Amino acid sequence: MEPLTSAGHTLYFESSLAALKTLLESNKYSKVFVLADEHTSEICLPLFQSLLDDFWEFDLIETSAGEENKNIDFCIGIWKTLLDFEADRKSLMINLGGGVVTDMGGFIASTYKRGIDFINVPTTLLSQVDASVGGKTGIDIDNVKNMVGTFTLPQMVFIETAFLKTLPQRELLSGFAEMIKHGLIYDKPYYEKLKESNYLTPSAQDIYRSVEIKNEVVTIDPHEKNLRKILNFGHTIGHAIEGYSLVNDKNPLTHGEAIAIGFVCEAALSIKNSTLTKEELNDISGYILSLYPKYHIKKESFDTLLELMQSDKKNEDGNILFSLLESTGKCTFNCRVSTADILSSLDYYNSL
Ligand SMILES: NC(=O)c1ccc[n+]([C@@H]2O[C@H](COP(=O)([O-])OP(=O)(O)OC[C@H]3O[C@@H](n4cnc5c(N)ncnc54)[C@H](O)[C@@H]3O)[C@@H](O)[C@H]2O)c1
Ligand SMILES: [Zn+2]
Repeated sequence: MEPLTSAGHTLYFESSLAALKTLLESNKYSKVFVLADEHTSEICLPLFQSLLDDFWEFDLIETSAGEENKNIDFCIGIWKTLLDFEADRKSLMINLGGGVVTDMGGFIASTYKRGIDFINVPTTLLSQVDASVGGKTGIDIDNVKNMVGTFTLPQMVFIETAFLKTLPQRELLSGFAEMIKHGLIYDKPYYEKLKESNYLTPSAQDIYRSVEIKNEVVTIDPHEKNLRKILNFGHTIGHAIEGYSLVNDKNPLTHGEAIAIGFVCEAALSIKNSTLTKEELNDISGYILSLYPKYHIKKESFDTLLELMQSDKKNEDGNILFSLLESTGKCTFNCRVSTADILSSLDYYNSL
């Protein structure tokens, strides 16, 4: 598959690690570090090494898995490890893992000694179709997601579907939600194609199409001043539900499960506040409910959800701003909607 160019760096697909081999053999780097979490160091590193014919030398830095470890304490530990290993400005960091590893590894690399080169090798579906593009790095502070970070591009990104074979089903379904979003906001035929596909075995072509869509959008608007906001479709309500679930549910929703609920609610908002039709809403709701477990949004959580939406960092001047569908495959942004409409969209989801 043809590599994609994104703002000066290249995204490679499917067994195209030859470019990385060439880079490693070029002697451009004094040392190579691989950052992996406890799972990807065990599961993905052997595959990664075998794809590279085991020929290169590196130091492994292992971190704990999970969002709760995407924090400043782990960064300090890793910066110190880099110092102990005498990493200099000509060192290279390879981030091998899901979005937690690529976000935090990118942040560490972009700040260590004012910035060293890094390469991302995303190993979850979510990180392949979403976190792989756009140059956002970051960590959480006191559970506030992505509070501190940079816009820094990796030297290269390698997207290899072979890594997905070991990914748990729930993680696949979570990443698949971002693919559905790409279809909903930008490409109706792609959305229709996804409806016929099996999320357990996402095809390399579909992953490629998702990356291509995100890349097109962020290339037009790298710093989220306008068009990039369409990527937030489903996320205003979805993030609030995700945050609520994290604190209140024994088995919290994944990001993808939460934004899938957000798609349904925000599609309902799109009927009243944009030009989406009732038929299109029915189709979206039906598809989402056929894939994602039904969740009950408790009435007593509605106020908390509104507060969470108010604190969304994407708002301006205290107004909750939505990205809404004009039709399946076309999205608009900066839409203000009434509180009453937001609440009825939650009721609509519950009524399904
Ligand atoms: N930078 C961006 O633009 C961007 C975009 C979307 C999401 N994100 C960030 O991505 C993070 C979520 O990423 P994620 O969903 O990949 O979560 P994650 O990195 O926590 O990975 C999920 C789990 O899967 C395991 N895992 C990873 N690859 C595996 C494999 N191949 N086989 C088996 N297990 C594997 C991990 O160890 C982890 O336990 C969030 O922090 C989010 O903020 C960033
Ligand atoms: Zn998302």
